[in-house]
Amino acid sequence: MSTKIFAHRGASNYAPENTMAAFQMAERMQADGIETDVQLTKDQVPVLIHDESINRTTNKRGLVRNLTYEQLQQLDAGSWFHRDYAGESIISLDYFLSWIKQTSLLLNVELKTNKFPYPGIEEIVLQRLQEHHMTDRTTISSFNPDSIRRTAVLDSAIDTGFLTSKRPKQLFSLMEEIGAKAMHPKFRLLNKKLLVECQQRNIPIRVYTVNQPVYILKALEAACDTIISDVPDRALDLRKSYITS
Ligand code: G3P
Repeated sequence: MSTKIFAHRGASNYAPENTMAAFQMAERMQADGIETDVQLTKDQVPVLIHDESINRTTNKRGLVRNLTYEQLQQLDAGSWFHRDYAGESIISLDYFLSWIKQTSLLLNVELKTNKFPYPGIEEIVLQRLQEHHMTDRTTISSFNPDSIRRTAVLDSAIDTGFLTSKRPKQLFSLMEEIGAKAMHPKFRLLNKKLLVECQQRNIPIRVYTVNQPVYILKALEAACDTIISDVPDRALDLRKSYITS
């Protein structure tokens, strides 16, 4: 099985992150899957946005958790990237699932609970995935070990990935304790030692966010399970030439 290529927040180098434009572009590029971020609105609607605040990627200011879904829908989530994307909006997880379930794409939902815990987010997201029959092709990841633990307790069958940008001493025992099935490390953590340790434990490695050819090739060479990239087209091309070379 060759390394899978996931589009990070959609094809986010080419279209505004976490919008339908970026997701549809990833599908056209024939990425294997999409990685996206979930936060909860004031009225508990799971929406796709990376930051806790709307400041960077919309035309207004404020925190997602202080705004209702209806308020978020009024925002322009595309112009910050390029005026051609002025019509893009923040979408709900529900809307996104209605679209992705009709494709053959895999999905990685990151629960953005590392700054605000969003109590109940694990149940809410799992429920939406079940309603759309997407649990079999979805991985739930998080930097917050409590979110992974809660997800694994709620649904022991769903795939889970522990996100980490550091290499703490107790990484593997922590992963075991919280029930994480895969490791999602920052690409700079990828080295022989980590590879061997994961291989010995049969833990898939999914590296983020890998954009430069030299690092994409390194992850392909290491036979990582997945590469999460803002430039899925580049990673797919490199994978093609890597396989045929
Ligand atoms: O899930 C991979 C990657 O998105 C994790 O980092 O900061 O982009 O959420 P970040």
